Amino acid sequence: MADTTLMEKLVSLCKRRGFVFQSSEIYGGLGSVWDYGPLGVELKKNVKDRWWRAMVHARDDIEGLDAAILMAPQVWEASGHVAGFTDPLVDCRTCKARFRADKIQDAQCPQKPSKHPGEHSTCDLTEPRLFNLMFKTFMGPVEEQAAVIYLRPETAQGIYVNYLNVLNSSRQKVPFGIAQIGKAFRNEITPGNFIFRTREFEQMEMQFFVKPGSDGEWFERWREWRMEWHHSVGLAPAKLRWHPHGPGELAHYAKAAYDIEYEFPFGWNEIEGIHNRSDFDLGRHQQYSGKKLDYFDQATNTRFVPYIIETSAGADRVTLTLLVDAYREEVVEGETRVVLGFHPSIAPIKAAVLPLVKKDGMPELAERIYHDLKRRFTCFYDDSGAIGRRYRRMDEAGTPFCITVDGQTTGDQTVTIRLRDAMTQTRVGVDQLGAWVSERV
Ligand code: GAP
Repeated sequence: MADTTLMEKLVSLCKRRGFVFQSSEIYGGLGSVWDYGPLGVELKKNVKDRWWRAMVHARDDIEGLDAAILMAPQVWEASGHVAGFTDPLVDCRTCKARFRADKIQDAQCPQKPSKHPGEHSTCDLTEPRLFNLMFKTFMGPVEEQAAVIYLRPETAQGIYVNYLNVLNSSRQKVPFGIAQIGKAFRNEITPGNFIFRTREFEQMEMQFFVKPGSDGEWFERWREWRMEWHHSVGLAPAKLRWHPHGPGELAHYAKAAYDIEYEFPFGWNEIEGIHNRSDFDLGRHQQYSGKKLDYFDQATNTRFVPYIIETSAGADRVTLTLLVDAYREEVVEGETRVVLGFHPSIAPIKAAVLPLVKKDGMPELAERIYHDLKRRFTCFYDDSGAIGRRYRRMDEAGTPFCITVDGQTTGDQTVTIRLRDAMTQTRVGVDQLGAWVSERV
C-alpha cells in the first residue's frame, strides 16, 4: 500500500530545508514543474557528477556531448516522435477533466465522493484520442505551421545526429559511446508524485554504438554496469529490481528493453531504462536526411549502420530516489531525529564546522578551519543554538560530518568529528582534517 505519509514528510522537508520548491509558487504554482533550492541543486549536481565520472571520465570508450534543446523539426519526424510519441486521452464533458485512457483505474474523478472517472452517474467520457506529448513552439517572429519546432522530449536524438561529428573529431572506433546530460520536456497528462514525473526534467543518457550481432552482449554488459552504479551511489540493493519490457510495452524504437525500478512509497517505478534501439534511429536519420550514417570498419573492411545500446536515467528521478532511500526517523533519547543518510559523495554539504561556544577563541579558530576546508569541498558554518540542535539540523540536511571546535582545540589543535549515522565522535588533528574528510567524500 502507498505510504503517502512518508512522501508528505519528504516534500515538506524538501521545502523547509531548501531542496525543492514548487515553480512559480507565489502565483499558485505551475503544475508539475519544480525548482531546486540551495541544498537540492548541490544534491542533483552530485548525482550528475557521479554519473559523468562513471560514464565519461572513468572510461576511454565514451565521449561527452552537450547538444542544443532545439533541433530541426525533421529530427522528430525521423525519430518517430511526431507520429508515435502519444498517450491515449479521454475527456470528461461534465467536469472537463482529462485522463489517460490506459490509466483510468489509477485516476480519480474530481467529483465527490472520490471515484474513478466514469463511475459517477454524471460522468460523460469521450472516446480515447491520441495526444502528442511534445511541447511545440515557434522559431522566428511568425507563428505559422512552417515555423513549428519542438522542445526535445529526449536528449538521445542530439547524440544520433552528432554521431559522425564525434566519431570524426575523436579517436574512437566502434564500439564506442556518447554521453549527455540535459533538459527534456514532455507534456505529461498524469504527472505527479513530486519530482518523479514532471513536465520539465533532466536526462542522463548514453548511446553506445556497436557492431550488429554484438548488440545482445553489450546490452547485457550495460545492464550490469548500470545496476552497479545505482548501488555505488548508496541505493539499497533490496529496493532495486529489473523490469523486462514485454512486446506490448516496448517503445517504438526498441528491440529489447529493461527498466531499473525502485520501490517508492507509491510502489515500484522506473528510474532508468536500458534499451537495445537496434539500427532504428540511425537508419531513420539516414533515410530522412539523405546523408550516409554508416561506419567503415577497417578491421573487417566492411560497412554497417551501428546498433545502439542506450542507457537513459532521469537526474530528477534518481535525486528523488536518493531522497526517499536516505530518509529515516529514529528516536534518540526520547526525541525523534530525522536523518537523510546520503552516501558522503552525494551529500549536498560534506562537513559542518561548529564552534562549541561563542567565546574563548573558538569562533575565530572555527572560522579559519571553515574557510580552509570550503576550498576543498562544500562546508557549512553554524554557531547558533545548542550543539545538539546544530547536529540535528545537519542530520536533516544529510551532512555526514560535523566538526566541532571545543576547549581542547585551542590547546592541542585537535577537533572532534561527529559521524551522522553512528553519532559517535573521533578526535582528529586540525592539520589532518582536510585529508580526513576528502578521503571519505
Ligand atoms: N531516450 C529514451 C527515453 O527517453 P524513457 O524511458 O522515456 O526513455 C528515460 O525515459 C528516463 O527519463 C526514465 O527512466 C526517467 O528516469 C526519466 N523520465 C522520463 N520521463 C520523465 C518525466 N516526465 N519526469 C521525470 N523523469 C522522466
